[in-house]
Amino acid sequence: MRGFHDVLPPQSERFHRIERNLCTVLDSYNYVEIRTPIAERAELFARSLGEATDIVEKEMYTFEDRDGTMLTLRPECTASVVRAAIEGGLAGRDRVAKLYYLGPMFRRERPQKGRLRQFHQIGVEVLGREDALADAEVVALLMDCLAAAGLRDVKLLLNSLGDATCRPGYRTALEAFGRAHEAELCETCKLRLERNPLRLLDCKEESCRALMVDAPRLREHLCDECRTHFNDVERLLTAAGIEFTVDPTLVRGLDYYVRTAFEVIAPGLGAQNAVGGGGRYDGLVAALGGAPIGGVGFAIGLERLLMSAGSTGEDATPEMCVIPLTEAAAASALQLARALRGAGARCELETAGRSVKSAMRRADKLGVRFALLIGDAEIEAGRATVRDMQRQADHPLAIGFDVDGLTTAAAIRALGEGEARGC
Ligand code: HAM
Repeated sequence: MRGFHDVLPPQSERFHRIERNLCTVLDSYNYVEIRTPIAERAELFARSLGEATDIVEKEMYTFEDRDGTMLTLRPECTASVVRAAIEGGLAGRDRVAKLYYLGPMFRRERPQKGRLRQFHQIGVEVLGREDALADAEVVALLMDCLAAAGLRDVKLLLNSLGDATCRPGYRTALEAFGRAHEAELCETCKLRLERNPLRLLDCKEESCRALMVDAPRLREHLCDECRTHFNDVERLLTAAGIEFTVDPTLVRGLDYYVRTAFEVIAPGLGAQNAVGGGGRYDGLVAALGGAPIGGVGFAIGLERLLMSAGSTGEDATPEMCVIPLTEAAAASALQLARALRGAGARCELETAGRSVKSAMRRADKLGVRFALLIGDAEIEAGRATVRDMQRQADHPLAIGFDVDGLTTAAAIRALGEGEARGC
């Protein structure tokens, strides 16, 4: 199906590895996971993302449930997290919530490289903090996550979108500029002029971009509070050694943002080069029925992250393989494999009754370091033969398979270490 992909091995392994790396970073920042449903009431997104956004206007998968409720497959997770935090009483005036999430999102966009209809995000939301330090720390976390995923040469773009005090004045100024140049605007921007003039700034058409170079700048329209907040964020990021570029055309495609907005662009992604983005959304919690508290967060697109990071680390190979050479050895082989797995070994258990030759071919194909053979002789002796595949020969050592897994696994690994020491 267009834009809906299976994630097959080894790609699924890479997903898993990157998720694990990122979760380690999130743990170190003291975030906790939240899981929200894939489907929400449709009105949640119209109320939070904005009626005049591309997502709400044309990209949502919305359908009528049997009882007449309109449901939407979540196009992003910020609105869901805020809704869940309000309903679950997670955040309030003196209660900060630091939440992360991971999972599929759905947008009916035109599929192309790096743009899917079902894609995966890992994101964070901080609810109950209004200070610039919270923004700077969230940006620092984003950069640390990207570094942990092995991403290099990324570019952090930063802007302030003002707030309810100063943005209306800017919007009027921008709209007036747009009207004065209406004839030169692309068809989409003519519509944007009517519905959401701020989006004139991030049009991808070359002619519109050239025109917008002379457009009024939001920075010059910021109220004192927004200007101070933005200066503080810049100062904190600079002090933390995080490089950024202020991009006055960065407006983001969601209406809930106020003040800080940011995006990270990465190499190797083509036209869809934003690997992650986010910002501050004070007002959203109150708009959805919660306390008047602030919020800030980001989301990373996992497919784009993988595309840009390339392969990070080795694909998974089992360390050991237990091979019952006869049907009679199957039960002992199962017992040994479970004991080794209990000791933390990634262990494969092969079909019973293969010839030694074909069993070795299998072990070779699996790429295991150690093959553990159990045939009639081994059953008789109560021991399994360990074959070190790197040495291409039967290893003289035999290990009992009814001893405890930790001792057995340690003894097998010692064989490899012995070789590394030249024994
Ligand atoms: P967003 O910029 O819409 O922000 O999406 C975040 C990231 O998701 C993008 O930078 C991109 O990597 C990925 N992404 C978005 N759409 C697609 C797609 N069609 N195919 C593949 N990847 C995609 C948000 O979603 C906000 N909720 C972020 C946020 C959290 N702001 C505050 N808190």
